[in-house]
Amino acid sequence: MANNSSVTVVDHPLVRHKLSIMRNKETSTTNFRRLLREIALLLGYEVTRDLPIATQRIETPLEAMDAPFIDGKKLVVVPILRAGLGLADGILDLVPGARVGHIGLYRDPETKAAVEYYFKMPEALGERLVLVCDPMLATANSAIAAVDLLKGAGARWIKMLSVLAAPEGVKAFVEAHPDVPLTVAAIDRELNDHAYIMPGLGDAGDRLFGTK
Ligand code: PRP
Ligand code: URA
Repeated sequence: MANNSSVTVVDHPLVRHKLSIMRNKETSTTNFRRLLREIALLLGYEVTRDLPIATQRIETPLEAMDAPFIDGKKLVVVPILRAGLGLADGILDLVPGARVGHIGLYRDPETKAAVEYYFKMPEALGERLVLVCDPMLATANSAIAAVDLLKGAGARWIKMLSVLAAPEGVKAFVEAHPDVPLTVAAIDRELNDHAYIMPGLGDAGDRLFGTK
């Protein structure tokens, strides 16, 4: 795991292997969806590492003990629509009791600015860990806008989770939100002229949902 305070690259062999299959243009929608969910589990394991723990008294079949449990209000998984849904599914496998908020954003094809069309969050956002999920961090306009909206709605403990990032997007995100840790599976070479990540995996939403 490569780490520079606010950016973590989870370069575990299982993550790298699964991501390589996702990148392949021959990989089917069914397999793309399954692999994204599996990578989410592995990334989710890392980003939930510092959840608070408190002990409760329980009885094992042999004796009483103070057993550790996750403490505090349930965390919130926030997929950025659409592709974030695939990542969020894996996090929910790991933390089935999590709340789910949704942020609808799409990239304007000309300007690449993030355009908002939906925002719905659970109550008490300020008391929960908020895990923002989007498999692609290209210009980072979408991720930056999502975190802006969440901070505006009262979120105070936010983490950003992506699968593939461009160096340009990582730089922009860290500059805009230095207080929000970013976890990714890989940072690719660059953005192309259409702000697609190179070599990348193409359009994550289309590959996940079989559109286009
Ligand atoms: C994709 C992707 C991210 C965004 C990343 O969404 O899922 O949300 O682009 O690009 P950025 O870092 O330059 O903002 P898209 O706008 O294609 O919408 P979709 O998921 O609904 O297809
Ligand atoms: N969105 C995607 O789905 N893929 C990219 O490479 C860039 C933005």
